[in-house]
Amino acid sequence: MTEVEGKQRVCVTGAGGYLASWVIKFLLSKGYMVHGTVRDPGDMKNAHLTKLENASENLQLFKADLLDYEGLCAATDGCTGVFHVACPVPARSNVPNPEVELIEPAVTGTRNVLNACTKAKVKRVVVVSSIGAVVFNRSWPKDRPMDEECWSETELCKAVQEYYCLGKTVAESEALEYAKSSEFSIITVCPSIIIGPLLQPTMNASSLFLLTLLKGGIESLENKARPVVDVRDVAEALLLAYEKPEAKGRYICTSYVIRMQDLVNKLKSLYPNYNYPKSFTAIEEDVKMSSEKLQNLGWKYRPLDETIVDAVKRYEESGFLSKDQDYGTSHLLWPRKVSNQL
Ligand SMILES: NC(=O)c1ccc[n+]([C@@H]2O[C@H](COP(=O)([O-])OP(=O)(O)OC[C@H]3O[C@@H](n4cnc5c(N)ncnc54)[C@H](OP(=O)(O)O)[C@@H]3O)[C@@H](O)[C@H]2O)c1
Repeated sequence: MTEVEGKQRVCVTGAGGYLASWVIKFLLSKGYMVHGTVRDPGDMKNAHLTKLENASENLQLFKADLLDYEGLCAATDGCTGVFHVACPVPARSNVPNPEVELIEPAVTGTRNVLNACTKAKVKRVVVVSSIGAVVFNRSWPKDRPMDEECWSETELCKAVQEYYCLGKTVAESEALEYAKSSEFSIITVCPSIIIGPLLQPTMNASSLFLLTLLKGGIESLENKARPVVDVRDVAEALLLAYEKPEAKGRYICTSYVIRMQDLVNKLKSLYPNYNYPKSFTAIEEDVKMSSEKLQNLGWKYRPLDETIVDAVKRYEESGFLSKDQDYGTSHLLWPRKVSNQL
């Protein structure tokens, strides 16, 4: 990565999270001054941020909830750009109060961030959406890879109670609508299931996708196809979307579609001693998705083996794989249908 000319000041929301931590690491390594928002600056789960290279001089943490407009204004003040990464990512799909726990922080939170950006007169905002805002579409042709034209149907998200995807869909479409009358540009990036090494000390929902397969206890698994992407490749995509003047609109960010059985076989070949699922049931579900638009912007992604090896190394070093640590099982292994077969 090349260094930026001069010192640009940017804000990253949800700084201590899985993806945002990598975004901040890359920004700091390129010479950016970074304002990171966290809900609790004193919480040890954010302590890794202050240890990043260049953090002591160039990283400042601000306390801000997504529903705290004033806090967001303080964090974005003086910034030329904002990476809006924060959003609750549930480890389970049965959240007791989805309106309060998922929709409000996603939708009102994004609105608050964009209003704060208007006040701060920023030049560009990159909003992290999700393929959850893409895949719940019944009319997309089955044989055509889903691209940036494909949007999740909000009524369908409600019907199948995928409230996280509903929140991401509404937040992203509102952000792109906001861009039509704002003085700054807004780019949205929709990653698939993010895996790879963690910088933060706590487990996050999408890392459970791999961890659950290694930790054992699953007898049988549906052999679903899942789109995945490395956390470092997503962070690089966000920087690319920010830095490339020609970046515009929406970008799907995914690198591989892998069936669960193939993923388990890959893990087994690299780490034969874990307690893997014993059987798989066949399932007629396919996922076709294209990141061609992002690749045309210059995005490249690393080999899947590198992602897996670096992730597992981190799980082993951090004790995430020890038997007495129970994180539950990721619903990402068994989400409701994510195809147009709904
Ligand atoms: N991981 C994936 O597979 C995946 C895939 C597609 C899109 N995404 C998107 O990528 C972004 C980052 O996800 P992640 O995987 O890095 O998740 P993560 O590790 O759980 O990070 C989420 C961050 O959002 C913050 N946050 C949640 N609710 C908040 C609120 N009300 N106010 C302020 N901050 C709040 C969290 O802060 P606390 O630490 O205080 O809770 C945390 O820092 C999200 O927008 C997510 O929707 C993730």
